[in-house]
Amino acid sequence: MSNQNDILDVKQLSEEAGGMEAALRPGTLDEFVGQDNLKSNLRVFIEAARARQEALDHCLFYAPPGLGKTTLANILAKEMGVNIKVTSGPVLARPGDLAAMLTTELADGDILFIDEIHRLNPAVEEALYPAMEDFTFFINTGKGPGSTTLKLAVPKFTLVGATTRSGLLTGPLRDRFGIVFNLGFYEISEITDILARSARLLNIAADRAGLTELAKRSRGTPRIANRLLRRARDFAQVKGQGVITQEIATLAMNSLDIDNEGLDSVDKRILEALIDRFNGGPVGVENLAIAVSEAVDTLTDAIEPYLIKAGFIARTPRGRVATPKAYKHLNRKPATDLLF
Ligand SMILES: Nc1ncnc2c1ncn2[C@@H]1O[C@H](COP(=O)(O)OP(=O)(O)OP(=O)(O)O)[C@@H](O)[C@H]1O
Ligand SMILES: [Mg+2]
Repeated sequence: MSNQNDILDVKQLSEEAGGMEAALRPGTLDEFVGQDNLKSNLRVFIEAARARQEALDHCLFYAPPGLGKTTLANILAKEMGVNIKVTSGPVLARPGDLAAMLTTELADGDILFIDEIHRLNPAVEEALYPAMEDFTFFINTGKGPGSTTLKLAVPKFTLVGATTRSGLLTGPLRDRFGIVFNLGFYEISEITDILARSARLLNIAADRAGLTELAKRSRGTPRIANRLLRRARDFAQVKGQGVITQEIATLAMNSLDIDNEGLDSVDKRILEALIDRFNGGPVGVENLAIAVSEAVDTLTDAIEPYLIKAGFIARTPRGRVATPKAYKHLNRKPATDLLF
């Protein structure tokens, strides 16, 4: 018995460490749930590029964390039948790092996936421009008057970039992508479908009402949904009959302090600060971030987009404001209705 527990523990550890994320990642566009417009467009671009036997045009995906950017990059490689090399903005520290990837690791048609592409160092970004446009790379050798510039040919690759906001990219970089897509938050029914697929793959027993309950609390985000599924499975095992029902899902979410709108304690601290300390706003995002001890980037890229989408916060030219829905959700009486 203790042996079996040991095995379970080890399995859970590796799942939490990211093994699970890979296991649940859809491998084809057909398996990728939702984002129908994006999928149908990509199908056309893939079919056209394949028929011309060319590399796919450079693609940029922007969306808050956990909505499927990395998943899509991998799907593109699979659907195009090419290899994918993965790196990220901060990892490509010098132009030489990029040159090495382009010239030794890629073949014609392959995909270079640069995650967090907004974090490229400017020298690397500039070296990327001619590589994207003309598949050439310029290397400076030596310093001073004796220096020369070497021109290298690189394979006809496809650059796939991912970022949390397109506005973080410089104009020249953004303009060099032929295909640009924003992934929006998923509908509850789509998240429920994602959860049903994950439950099937992980052998988790759940009924539709249980999964819908989890979906409602997943902030329209597949990664969060899959995480909540794992937690609800624990509750089903220990507190229930092993099946995720609506009752078990509700119990699990309440225990984790995730409310019926999917807001967690961090979200609630933000709304409370906005309403109680800043009188509902408007307040600048920096001040709001300081008030809740979060990094500005975390607030703007990971937390706030859902609060805006769900209608709890509005962005105005003078800063963030709490909406009537936020007041109602926190049981506060609006101090003034001037803003609305
Ligand atoms: N459309 C989808 N259908 C099914 N599962 C999805 C979908 N999108 C994402 N997922 C699941 O959510 C997980 C997170 O997706 P992914 O890693 O692609 O997000 P991301 O946008 O790259 O996030 P980050 O910005 O943090 O890198 C994946 O492992 C996958 O299982
Ligand atoms: Mg990613």
